[in-house]
Amino acid sequence: MATSENRFILEQLAALIEDWDGTIECRYCHLANASALLFSHFDRINWLGFYLATAGNQALILGPFQGKVACTDISFDRGVCGKAVRTGKSVYVADVHTFLDHIACDSASRSEFVVPLMDKEDVVVGVLDVDSPELSRFSDNDQVLLEEAGRIISRLLWS
Ligand code: SME
Repeated sequence: MATSENRFILEQLAALIEDWDGTIECRYCHLANASALLFSHFDRINWLGFYLATAGNQALILGPFQGKVACTDISFDRGVCGKAVRTGKSVYVADVHTFLDHIACDSASRSEFVVPLMDKEDVVVGVLDVDSPELSRFSDNDQVLLEEAGRIISRLLWS
């Protein structure tokens, strides 16, 4: 159930990206704004952004984001992001040091939430990734918000 604060940010997100014209340039433009909007919404996070599936569908490549410089390529069989791609489900890691295959782009990160993005055939096309310097940073409410944000982004930019 979305709280009124969640509803407000989700409505802003949908309004921001609703006029996609079908081009890759416009998709990147909207993903850039989506990363800025969501990054400014959450406190106690150090990175938020997108990784998108490459044409051969074997790896993710860095997309628009907010935060420090990050890893550019992530194979589908690696990391928290790869797990979200392989399972098609969001992945919450409350303590990244307990996730053996965690890829540490920023050693300050302690917890991470990754949401898969899907096209209209339910094929994973990328992920929304959020990192925090705080252990167990993400609440059930954050999960609801991030998963709904992922659905809105998928629907408006991949359908
Ligand atoms: N930690 C991620 C890599 C991406 S960065 O967090 C920006 C992972 O393990 O897949």
